[in-house]
Amino acid sequence: MKLISGTANVALARDIADVLDVPLTDIDIERFRDQEIFARINENVRGEDIFLIQPTSAPANDHLMELLILIDALVRASAQRITAVIPYFGYARQDRKTGGRTPISAKLVANLISKAGAHRVLTVDLHAGQIQGFFDIPTDNLFAQPVFISDIKEQYSAKTRKDIMFVSPDTGGVVRTRSIAKMFNADIAIVDKRRPKAGESEVMNIIGDVAGRNCIIYDDIIDSGGTISNAAAALKDHGASSVSAYITHGVLSGPAVERITNSELKEVVILDTIAQPDAVKACDKIRELSSSKLLGEAIRRIANDESVSKLFE
Ligand code: R5P
Repeated sequence: MKLISGTANVALARDIADVLDVPLTDIDIERFRDQEIFARINENVRGEDIFLIQPTSAPANDHLMELLILIDALVRASAQRITAVIPYFGYARQDRKTGGRTPISAKLVANLISKAGAHRVLTVDLHAGQIQGFFDIPTDNLFAQPVFISDIKEQYSAKTRKDIMFVSPDTGGVVRTRSIAKMFNADIAIVDKRRPKAGESEVMNIIGDVAGRNCIIYDDIIDSGGTISNAAAALKDHGASSVSAYITHGVLSGPAVERITNSELKEVVILDTIAQPDAVKACDKIRELSSSKLLGEAIRRIANDESVSKLFE
């Protein structure tokens, strides 16, 4: 097995390498003056089982292009099998036509990755499970849930756990929220969120009685922070004792850090699927958990032809 990291999240790739006790393969990524990307693999990869780690996070287009170019380099270097390890799959939110004459960009990106020559994809908490079907190659979609469950058990004593209510910040996340709530035998509430326009969110109503409860908002992506900061304000207005959030991918664009800082949220817990800038690391309300053991174990299982779904049983 060989592990290769693009430039999108080298810290995570190093942590995965530590978990597996396999060194990262030496590569060079360079830029031409016009910003074209050039990649060179500095070690022999002929006949190797390659795991190429590159989330397609911001700058999404650069990181995606780098992933495609690295796959092409590996194909031409006669790698035997290439697994694109994409801890955060950007473009996932464009998974359907939202109006006339609009693209399904998630499908286009899936096509690009397969056409470039990847044989498999390994990712975490796809925005919608059915995006797996956009790939015509085997795709393993890992769940962040076990990492979050252990953390919640550590953070909440057996006594306070009884007051936990899991909250879906929109109707689209109800299945995901119900699934984690089941693990704690907890109730769920649902925020009736509307988007008057892209990038803006409004809370219309809360479905469920959150008064006196420790609310945990559960979601796959935090982008501008509007969804969860509005949801937290509405939950507090409805009498919630506390509001925290567990969210897999910290996209955290634009005003997100400021919104979280000024919000009713006690804490926002994210995974390290996306490399974070210093402003996020310095925010007291944001805590990052490692996904390296989860990804490392999945990589080990894929390399050994063992079941990946067993990880979640
Ligand atoms: C939407 O379906 C996603 O699950 C997130 O709720 C959304 O992307 C969050 O966006 P923002 O933080 O910009 O409100």
